[in-house]
Amino acid sequence: MNTTDLLAIVNEYDAPIYIYDAQKIENQYNRLIKAFKKVERLKINYAVKALSNISILKLFKYYGAGLDTVSIQEVQLGLSAGFKAKDIIYTPNGVSLQEIEEVAQLGCQINIDNLSVLEQFGSRNPGIPVCLRINPHVMAGGNRNISVGHIDSKFGISIHQMPHVLRIVSNTNMHINGIHMHTGSDILDIDVFLHAAEILFNTAKQFTNLDFLDFGSGFKVPYTENDIETNIEELGKKLSKRFNAFQLEYGKPLTLAFEPGKFLVSEAGYFLARVNTVKQTTSTVFAAVDSGFNHFIRPMFYQSFHDIINLSNENGNERFYSVVGYVCETDTFASNRRIKEIKEGDILCFKNAGAYCFSMSSNYNSRYKPAEVLWINNKAFLIRERETLNDLLQKQCKVEIPDLVTELN
Ligand SMILES: Cc1ncc(COP(=O)(O)O)c(C=O)c1O
Repeated sequence: MNTTDLLAIVNEYDAPIYIYDAQKIENQYNRLIKAFKKVERLKINYAVKALSNISILKLFKYYGAGLDTVSIQEVQLGLSAGFKAKDIIYTPNGVSLQEIEEVAQLGCQINIDNLSVLEQFGSRNPGIPVCLRINPHVMAGGNRNISVGHIDSKFGISIHQMPHVLRIVSNTNMHINGIHMHTGSDILDIDVFLHAAEILFNTAKQFTNLDFLDFGSGFKVPYTENDIETNIEELGKKLSKRFNAFQLEYGKPLTLAFEPGKFLVSEAGYFLARVNTVKQTTSTVFAAVDSGFNHFIRPMFYQSFHDIINLSNENGNERFYSVVGYVCETDTFASNRRIKEIKEGDILCFKNAGAYCFSMSSNYNSRYKPAEVLWINNKAFLIRERETLNDLLQKQCKVEIPDLVTELN
């Protein structure tokens, strides 16, 4: 899709708006499948949290993926999109036992990352197979908030707690059918994956009846034209070889699972916002758009870099800008960024807006969440309408405050 296509979508559906290119999603999915073609049983479970629009989930169903979920609501969305429960893995953290049991009753694969939960779940549901999320104690990821396999992380069961795990498993007679890890996001170095994989293999050897090994995700995607990314092809070659050797050692065919979010959808997403004001101060030129961290939180939350292009003036001269939002707090998308000259009314395009963008949006400042469009077969399809005042009001109860105050008196 090109600039004309993007601007036509803004013309039709207005801004701010999220646009997703289905072809890019499919290319990434196929790239992963191809990289691991030497593995006989490969399962790609798309991480719903990255972008959970039901049309996107249906797209992944069409490709043949499963789903990785972290809440019963994500599970329910997946089921509504037509996924079978057996194709959904559920990896809760800090979630109530009640919710975990509800998801188990739906027939999803349960992945437990806590000894206390394991003991309770196993005692009450000995017949339900469970995957174990281990914490391999590998420090990896682009930012401390997205590094989840290190020693201080709340995620996973420490590999040093394996004796306790084995005791619980034998006492409850539960069936551990998978071992899982996810060490973080934006991991560039494939040696980190390979090192963590060895820890996963060592853990796996302690269980005799596994069906799958889940290597989580965390692949780094490029954020600019020449940016570095995880070398999926090389990882595919090296990990497939090692995985196939491990299967022989293990003596039973195993499925190799991944659960990527960012890798599959990040680059397919564009966020388009209109410039409300251009403001020259003593230190910079601010371009303020009709959006903010309520719609697009990653720069403020993770200090993540998103390339910004002025679609309305692609051939103009470059100037330096701070691109900010309209939220009444510091709300910076980019500082001191070289962008083609910006005028009020121009449309800016934020790249890598597919993953953790719309799904992390909120109504802060009582703003409406943007619309979402899927670009597929050279056509635009609205997959979420822009919110309206009704969306802000509909769940609020009609309480007549003056009456209440009079009653109290
Ligand atoms: C358990 C788990 N699996 C998969 C993912 C997806 O990671 P990414 O978007 O980096 O591919 C995450 C991200 O937070 C996660 O927590």
